[in-house]
Amino acid sequence: MRRSVVLGAGSALPARRVTNEELAQSVDTTDEWIVERTGIRSRYLAGEGETTASLAADAARRALDHAGVSASEIDLIVLATATPDQTFPSSATKVQAALGIPDCIAFDVHAVCTGFLYALSVADSMLRSGSAHKALVIGAETFSRILDWDDRATCVLFGDGAGALVLGAEEGERGILATKLHADGRHNDLLFVDGGPSTTGTVGKLRMKGREVFRHAVVNLAQVLNEVLEQAGLTAAEVDWVVPHQANARILDATARKLGLPAEKVVVTVDEHANTSAASVPLAFDVAVKDGRIKRGDLVILEAMGGGFTWGAAALRY
Ligand code: UT7
Repeated sequence: MRRSVVLGAGSALPARRVTNEELAQSVDTTDEWIVERTGIRSRYLAGEGETTASLAADAARRALDHAGVSASEIDLIVLATATPDQTFPSSATKVQAALGIPDCIAFDVHAVCTGFLYALSVADSMLRSGSAHKALVIGAETFSRILDWDDRATCVLFGDGAGALVLGAEEGERGILATKLHADGRHNDLLFVDGGPSTTGTVGKLRMKGREVFRHAVVNLAQVLNEVLEQAGLTAAEVDWVVPHQANARILDATARKLGLPAEKVVVTVDEHANTSAASVPLAFDVAVKDGRIKRGDLVILEAMGGGFTWGAAALRY
């Protein structure tokens, strides 16, 4: 069976790390509140010259190195972001140019924090159908640029970064086994940006009703995790690692509990990276591959939930 196999992973973070204590000097908050409610201890914030596409290109280069694949072999780039460098062209084409790839398919997908799952699913379909052979799937964000730094309920939660996977179409048992995606547009008003090119003509700022998002997240994630396991013909007991979207440590705990998965099987980076939206899943995946937790042959579940609402999951044999 032709499957999309993960050949390598890479990630990139901005140079500047900001702790809760440092943030509390300019925002009316405390380290205790942030840690207790979210598990976040620090985040990385993009500085001058660091953009979604530049972080994405750095992550992509590291993923190519890790995979032992040259940029010229890539015939598909799918980049998930809600914070592109420009309204157009796509950040995927900027990554293509930065990597020196003269011709390939390149486009962005936009499903906010679920963006990487959407990108992975689209790339998987294209690889399995034969319309591409080697793909870069990237999640990259600079949410710091759409945060209202006067809104303590949101600005302490997010960070910037990028993660990338190199996928190759191969025959065999390894690779992506199942993906499942959802969206429910009735909840636009619970997590959104209050601007855009066609409405205000401005970029806008992120707005969130955190408590309501939290409630939906736990229910939706448990549902889609069960669906993707069933689709792949697997049980929760067979899972080696869950790599979740890193929004809040309490959501990660609650979701693992609902599935009956021990907390040790859940990869957690929210403490260090905060919520990096579409970048969080591939960033966390890369961390766990590079520190030796995720090994070849392991069964890994990826999952995310975000604005829209959108939510999704993927099962893969690494
Ligand atoms: O990535 C997309 C998915 N996003 C999520 O999954 C986010 C989901 N939501 C959450 O993670 C949580 O709802 C939050 C972390 C955003 C908030 O936690 P909460 O326990 O739901 O707190 P809350 O919003 O109900 O606020 C509780 C209190 C309020 O004060 P009062 O009204 O009780 O006096 C807030 O004003 O905490 C106050 N507060 C803060 N205090 C100190 C809100 N933000 C802060 C802050 N520092 N940064």
